[in-house]
Amino acid sequence: MSSTVEQIKERLDITEVIGTYLKLGNAGSNLKACCPFHNEKTPSFFVSPSRQTYHCFGCSKGGDIFSFIQEIEGLDFSGSLKVLADKAGVEIKRTDRAQTSEKEKLFAVLEEATRFFEQNLKVQKDVALYLKDRGLTGITAKKFRLGYALDQWNALYDSLKTKGYSEAVIEKAGLTIKGDKGYYDRFRSRIMFPIFDSSGRVVGFSGRIFDSSGEKSDSIQQAKYVNSPETSLYNKSKILYGFDKAKVSIRRSGSCVLVEGQMDILMSHQAGFENTVAVSGTAITSEHLNLIKRLSDNLIIAFDPDDAGMSASKRGVDIALSLGFDVRVALLPSGLDPADLILKDKDKWGNILEDAQHIIDFYLDVLSRKDMDQRAFRVKVGEMVLPYIARLKNKINQAHFVSEVARKLGISDEPIWEELRSISKNIESDTVSNPPVTQSNSAKGTRKEMVERKILGLIFLQEEVKEPILNIKECKEKYKNIVGEDAFKTMQDLNEDDKKEFIFEVEVYYGDMKNIDEEFNELMKYMEEETLKEELAEAMEKLRISENKGETELINDTLKKCQEISKKINELK
Ligand code: CTP
Ligand code: MN
Repeated sequence: MSSTVEQIKERLDITEVIGTYLKLGNAGSNLKACCPFHNEKTPSFFVSPSRQTYHCFGCSKGGDIFSFIQEIEGLDFSGSLKVLADKAGVEIKRTDRAQTSEKEKLFAVLEEATRFFEQNLKVQKDVALYLKDRGLTGITAKKFRLGYALDQWNALYDSLKTKGYSEAVIEKAGLTIKGDKGYYDRFRSRIMFPIFDSSGRVVGFSGRIFDSSGEKSDSIQQAKYVNSPETSLYNKSKILYGFDKAKVSIRRSGSCVLVEGQMDILMSHQAGFENTVAVSGTAITSEHLNLIKRLSDNLIIAFDPDDAGMSASKRGVDIALSLGFDVRVALLPSGLDPADLILKDKDKWGNILEDAQHIIDFYLDVLSRKDMDQRAFRVKVGEMVLPYIARLKNKINQAHFVSEVARKLGISDEPIWEELRSISKNIESDTVSNPPVTQSNSAKGTRKEMVERKILGLIFLQEEVKEPILNIKECKEKYKNIVGEDAFKTMQDLNEDDKKEFIFEVEVYYGDMKNIDEEFNELMKYMEEETLKEELAEAMEKLRISENKGETELINDTLKKCQEISKKINELK
């Protein structure tokens, strides 16, 4: 272990590191959470503070703080080293530059570009003035590292080239476009919003049009926003704008506010609503929502009342409900987005968030306000509201809304339940809204296999500790006698990952390891009995075959063997 890694591990506690990403609950001497690496609804992700490791029994991922950061942030080792060194306040000794990976090079060039844009903003007074006009303070602009892309074709490209970045890296980072006459800057004359990954490193940009000759120049029709393309660092369906700065607040407040644009995020955070995130230039996906789900089950979606009420956000709501979120709606005043509203009246936005209605109540209300007869109302509720109720994961919530709908329709609960059951069947076949179930328990197999895992886990664990409680040599000998030479060899050849998984399993299962020797004997007894039973079954089968064939000698031998085995089984009891 290099000393930098050691230093970091000394300063950082795994529960703290993982705790910034996940809600950790107590599980004896360990902590547990729903696994961030696969979809699950009951926690099988365990963190061991004493061993400073984590392990998921569902998907078998496990390791230390470094592997956790690599996995969750999509980084390589040196990337995780940087993130954690930063967190721990440990300085990394510069290693060979040539060894930095492709991803690291992209991170570096994006960081350099961010600095370039930031620098430009400092001298571009009209842009600074515009941002101020929109209500942003200098502190917020700095925190979000806003910048400006000059009104030139090659400003960024030239600057990066002189700093030694290659054309290829600059293009791969999404900063330039290759035209007939060579490369030109993707972002020109735009206010630049860097997009950060969840650890706060820049992975892309969103650029808002800003023409220094006047904010609105209609002469050339240009997109209001230009975004980075997908790169090996920037996957739009996995990155939420503002998430890196919202994580802690989402976890603490127990809810997450979802808005639409960059300015909404900046103004929200500035006004103290730090649990706010946005998707950037794309529709919300289950991957986005899973990022949030690790921290909180409560989602508040900012709704634009003009957006035909429901259409644009419908899919997001569908997925969120399917993932088990409690979805509420913050209804904006007509024509304003959160950024505009906060600028006008920040307390009002606070109140709207406070009063956010459950999505189903909201839809019921919307429909009630529409002018239609009772029959049309029933049809609409069936079309627009019941599918949402069907998606609710919380059964108590579901029953509550069934009653509510029944009351509004002036009918009893039963027909609504019936309707729900038929809708649910259709939802079941909708794979998008139903996250895949994990292999978890079924993969663990029979009782005997589980017992075997425990035995092995205990042996491996005891081999690792300084003062083992079990006599390992004796235990192994016993185990060999029961399972036979071959199976014993297989066990010795197990790979490190499997070993670790077994160890973790028993650690979680036995906790303080009290009476572990007794437990071990119990397990061995069970193993032995099961193994004998299998042998007996095999012998009986052989007996049956020999009887069919009339092989007298074999019959006698096999019969004797059967009797021996069943005698052993009886002795065990
Ligand atoms: N967006 C985009 N591409 C566009 C338009 C919009 O990616 N051509 C994204 C941006 O992330 C933007 C969000 O959608 O922030 C919301 O768009 P819009 O409401 O048009 O912009 P605002 O964020 O309100 O920007 P502003 O207030 O500065 O006009
Ligand atoms: Mn706006």
